[in-house]
Amino acid sequence: MRKERTIYSCTTCGHKEPRWVGQCRECANWNTFLESAAEDREPPRFNFQRKEVAKALPLKDLVISESPRIKTNLSEFDRLLGGGIVKGSFTLVGGDPGIGKSTLLLQAASAAAKQGVVVLYISAEESLEQTFLRAQRLGVTGNDNLLVLSETNFSAIKKNIEEIDPDIVIVDSIQIIYKNDIPSAPGSFVQVREVATEFMHLAKGRGISIFLIGHVTKTGEIAGPKMLEHLVDTVLYFEGEKQQNFRLLRVVKNRFGSTDEVAVFQMTGGGLVEVCNPSQFFLEERTKESTGSVIVATLEGSRTFLVEVQALVTDTVFATPSRRASGIDQNRLALLLAVLEKRVGYPLHSRDVFVSLAGGIRIAECAIDLGVILAIISSYSNRIIPSNVVAIGEVGLSGEIRGIPRIEGRLKEAIHLGFKKFFIPKRNSEAIMKEFSSKIQIIPLEVVEEAIDALFV
Ligand SMILES: Nc1ncnc2c1ncn2[C@@H]1O[C@H](COP(=O)(O)OP(=O)(O)OP(=O)(O)O)[C@@H](O)[C@H]1O
Ligand SMILES: [Mg+2]
Repeated sequence: MRKERTIYSCTTCGHKEPRWVGQCRECANWNTFLESAAEDREPPRFNFQRKEVAKALPLKDLVISESPRIKTNLSEFDRLLGGGIVKGSFTLVGGDPGIGKSTLLLQAASAAAKQGVVVLYISAEESLEQTFLRAQRLGVTGNDNLLVLSETNFSAIKKNIEEIDPDIVIVDSIQIIYKNDIPSAPGSFVQVREVATEFMHLAKGRGISIFLIGHVTKTGEIAGPKMLEHLVDTVLYFEGEKQQNFRLLRVVKNRFGSTDEVAVFQMTGGGLVEVCNPSQFFLEERTKESTGSVIVATLEGSRTFLVEVQALVTDTVFATPSRRASGIDQNRLALLLAVLEKRVGYPLHSRDVFVSLAGGIRIAECAIDLGVILAIISSYSNRIIPSNVVAIGEVGLSGEIRGIPRIEGRLKEAIHLGFKKFFIPKRNSEAIMKEFSSKIQIIPLEVVEEAIDALFV
């Protein structure tokens, strides 16, 4: 039989300790601790004992009704979740400080409340006044269905949830909530793990859709145990440059829909506004006909964005040339410059090179390599690339142009926006020539030099 642990209680205030102590931490009285009676002992924290023993069933005999989804009128947000908020789903939303997590979820909460569902917004980080002021700024008037609670103690939150019985609960943020019976500080590994587990039991046990807002670490990962990401059904990640006003909400994990989806928003004084046509948004400020500029087509989940790559090549005044990349990986830029130098023969070792993606977007996809190279050569040689050109292709170390996935989607988006001339990898061209060659000019490429000859010679 399991040996029971001895527990000591303060006879004055009832505070419990795992071992005998001289002075009570709660009421500060001395010599008040006695061994607890058996009925005073804390009940086990998780009771997994069931009256009935679960029975295995053939998979084909299972009948599961499709759970209805709650639709907010934020169409991008609904699309990202796979068509609305699933009843009883457990979602984690991460993102840099000040990126707009509270703004997004307050807007979503208000939109959902307008659809008639009861939403409880737990503003643990901010006071009710702060939340009210934000709501006022966002034009979120709310109704009887949108309730706000400023509380950090989990027991108090649980009591409120049990009394209100909401459909959706938003916890802003998980790192601030604490459980009394855990000695470590709020935000610590154990507190986050335990509080998140409790919220999961509430979500699954009562069928409440719970959204947890989570902080991120210096390296950009969601703070707290990795187990947090395993525990939830969906992980959303909010990103963007704070100086720029566009924001990307990305699905990193989703048990109810596809991952790798993104929704694009614009941060304005009145809150987040959905961007239904991201390509137009990124090309809005493009000045026609300037050197060092070309358009690339990149994929984000199932969507295609057209983005302007800008490059500036100048003579170096210092001994070591400066290379700066904004929006693309610095190492990728170094690699592409080495290809230009060694394979194509451009003497860039004595030049400063700056490359930037207009609009503040970050792209990790190699399909923009050709665009980066052409923008650099355009600036270096002071020759303009016509404004109706789109360049797509990955560049290999020998200067070869490699094939890229889903070329049709990229071409369709660019044709829709009026682009006429496309530099694409030869490998992709055969499959699409028949369909597109009557509408647009396609230049299939095997090596970088072919693109340079076609544009600048
Ligand atoms: N008065 C305002 N006018 C315009 N934009 C504002 C205003 N106040 C805040 N913002 C925008 O909202 C952002 C803060 O949003 P929010 O508080 O939702 O972020 P958060 O991700 O929840 O931050 P935290 O991690 O601190 O909780 C600011 O970075 C700014 O872009
Ligand atoms: Mg916040």
